[in-house]
Amino acid sequence: MAKTRLRYACSECGYVSPVMLGRCPECQAWASLREMAPETAKAKGPKSALKEGVQSLDLVPKGETERVSTGMKELDRVLGGGMLPGAVILLSGEPGVGKSTLLLQAAAGAAKNGMRLLYVTGEESPAQVRLRAERLGLPLEDLFVLAETEVPAILEAASGPFDVLAVDSVQTLRIPELGSPAGSPTQLRESAQLLSLLAKRRGVPLWLVGHITKEGSIAGPKILEHLVDTVLYFEGERDRPVRVLRTFKNRFGAVNELGIFEMTGSGLGEVENPSGLFIAERAHGSSGSCITPVLEGRRPLLMEIQALVSPSFIPMPRRQSLGADPSRVGLLAAVLEKKVGLRLFDQDLFVNVAGGARVSEPAADLAIVAAISSSFQDNPLPEDLVVLGEVGLAGEIRRAGRMEERLKEAGRMGFGRVCGHKGELEAVKAPKLKKIGIERVGEIFQAAIGLSPFRKGKKGGSDNG
Ligand code: TYD
Ligand code: MG
Repeated sequence: MAKTRLRYACSECGYVSPVMLGRCPECQAWASLREMAPETAKAKGPKSALKEGVQSLDLVPKGETERVSTGMKELDRVLGGGMLPGAVILLSGEPGVGKSTLLLQAAAGAAKNGMRLLYVTGEESPAQVRLRAERLGLPLEDLFVLAETEVPAILEAASGPFDVLAVDSVQTLRIPELGSPAGSPTQLRESAQLLSLLAKRRGVPLWLVGHITKEGSIAGPKILEHLVDTVLYFEGERDRPVRVLRTFKNRFGAVNELGIFEMTGSGLGEVENPSGLFIAERAHGSSGSCITPVLEGRRPLLMEIQALVSPSFIPMPRRQSLGADPSRVGLLAAVLEKKVGLRLFDQDLFVNVAGGARVSEPAADLAIVAAISSSFQDNPLPEDLVVLGEVGLAGEIRRAGRMEERLKEAGRMGFGRVCGHKGELEAVKAPKLKKIGIERVGEIFQAAIGLSPFRKGKKGGSDNG
């Protein structure tokens, strides 16, 4: 006889548990678990006995998979090649980063492709939206705006002849029957769900703008992230024009994709040569600067790692890092200290990735090490050198991976030398670059800096370059 197993599913989030629980471990809702219909372990029978609605995948119609361009290449790339019909895209970022601007420009781009976008604004008046669109030089007659925060009214309006729907922002949405204030978890979840349903049913892409709180999470404990198909983060610093759009989740494309924009007086411009942007302001002949080709998504980018090492006057020297993982930097400093004998314990150490960029790849390790060593010795690295490779705790150099793409970008940007994992460099073709292969972290001094690690720079390591 087939054995039956009892299982319990959460009515809030769908979490399935083999035992009955008072509280869902997934969404933390109380008393939400219900017994599921018993499942038989051996349920094989003829295909013809399948209940209505169940079908094997080969019989499922392919559906419309044609992507719609937003008219912005960087945005399309981040989406995985454009918007898919019925896709729900959450665009989140801190207030003022440019979400509304991006959306309005994408609306105009879609309009150019014959798509009609309805822009629902809950934060600004239609007049303000018009003002912005005028400033951006967009075709006003092709853009449609609705100032509304109540979901039923939005659903009503969205059933009109629109090909794309955008709501700015989800935090203003309200379903009056729920009683709770706009922005509360229930309102957020229910509103987003109702709108997504409409998007899926009508096969129109839906954009939801979500503000991020200072702590970095989308307000409303990440509720929205698993409701939507794609989560994009728009990042940038207020006093800098560079804006980076990242894919955090994408059911229809690669994650960790990166789009780079520049906020100008007339809206967001796409940056065609981001490597140039991040290393453009490199100070010449200065110690503590090292260029490394990192991969952001599928895209190689050159970034400048900067380090500043100077004698500390406090018992616990400072270790600070911006744009690179502080614990990683601490670990690399420890490797330098132990394996190379670099006396860092009485030095303050600062690491920064120039241009407000971020590196998260271990492949940037060796560049961080090179920048620290260069600053420590007050000895600039050769200007045409890029450095890459992971550094292990034993001081060994490990492969960076995807070397060819990285080196191509370095060659394209005019660099002439590369220092990295010996075997990996030997295996890759890079006609434009002179290869300096190393196996141990200490070799970087001889190979790239041309110094012994023990010689300290003039004036106790102060950077006067
Ligand atoms: P906005 O799109 O309103 O940000 P968000 O919707 O994420 O809150 O953009 C706000 C900032 O962008 C604002 O500080 C002004 C600046 N900005 C420009 O620099 N140039 C422009 O053309 C536009 C429209 C905005
Ligand atoms: Mg806005």
